[in-house]
Amino acid sequence: MLTISTIKADVGSIGGHTRPSNRMIEVARSRLGGAVEKGLITDFDVTYTGDDLCLLMIHRQGSGNADVHNLAWDVFTAAAEVAREEGLYGAGQDLLKDAPSGNVRGAGPGAAEITFDETAEERPAEPFLVFTADKCGPGAYNFPLWTVFTSPLYNAGLMLPKMKPGFTFRVIDMEYAEGDRVIELVSPEEHIDLAILLRDENRFGVQAITSRKYPHQQVVAVSTDRLHTIAGEYKGKDDPVAIVRTQGIFPAPEEVVMPFVVAPYVAGDARGSHTMPLMPVPINTPVTGPYCLPIVACVAYSVNKEGKLSDGVDVFGNPAWDHVRLKAQQKAEWMRQQGFVGAAMLPMQELEYSAFRKSLDELEQRFTVL
Ligand code: 13P
Ligand code: MG
Ligand code: MG
Repeated sequence: MLTISTIKADVGSIGGHTRPSNRMIEVARSRLGGAVEKGLITDFDVTYTGDDLCLLMIHRQGSGNADVHNLAWDVFTAAAEVAREEGLYGAGQDLLKDAPSGNVRGAGPGAAEITFDETAEERPAEPFLVFTADKCGPGAYNFPLWTVFTSPLYNAGLMLPKMKPGFTFRVIDMEYAEGDRVIELVSPEEHIDLAILLRDENRFGVQAITSRKYPHQQVVAVSTDRLHTIAGEYKGKDDPVAIVRTQGIFPAPEEVVMPFVVAPYVAGDARGSHTMPLMPVPINTPVTGPYCLPIVACVAYSVNKEGKLSDGVDVFGNPAWDHVRLKAQQKAEWMRQQGFVGAAMLPMQELEYSAFRKSLDELEQRFTVL
């Protein structure tokens, strides 16, 4: 078996919430290189999207493995130390606990992992995509995943015999802090039920999707932790990572990226408190725009039977996406023109800076009932 683990965290960034420093990335690369030499992982990549570092690790230890999660924690701790030395902003931001008990889930970083049998006949090759988004929450993937895995309007590949039987979605209630409160729903029969839940991107998120024709084949994993649910107060947006395996029994990469053409409005943006469009950007893009914009990058990889990665292909780095970026910026300006009013800002309970609520509380005290 092989496991693709992607673990993502913001442990410090330059001049605001822009990007991690080169030294932080070098430290991450050298530690993961050491883990390859020791045989814990077979290969890795390190990227950033806005201020979040993403560690992609290929290994044979299975999903949720304590050694692999501890490795990721050590890498983030070392990168946070560099950020502190360099005086960067938000050093250690997403490391919410002293040390996790062998699993970073619930400790701050976001993790998405898929384990598969690399010898399975139906998967002669293993292409996959890694999506990394900044300034938004895990629900930002609800719209793209629902459309790709339930709607032939966006993904004509669903009409093929290998995909026609549909997919099983595991949806998680991200407001529930005691544990993973989940529901399984199947497409195509229950795609409306899925819509009923997924329309609420702040509460419900797709955690996993599995093939119904090949029930041992998981196609999607999304990090669905909510930092403010964990910490009880604002600790940064939950900037999610997702893995999508592609081709053959699964949608093709070109089908998977189709919904991102919409630049859908999502919850996030500046101070995690606005409704703004999700802009597809090249990998390793800093966040520097007005009211920053939620951004998403996508890298396509192949992994061989020995667990060695190909080079990554920067999917949204292509000129085909330039007009989507312009559209996103235009949609953003339309929204920003109405400032703080109505749909432009998130509902009070979703504002991730709890201090906004303190400001309201002060005014509440001054109300009188006539
Ligand atoms: P991050 O969650 O990416 O750290 O951004 C927080 C923020 O407040 C940006 O304005
Ligand atoms: Mg940050
Ligand atoms: Mg971030």
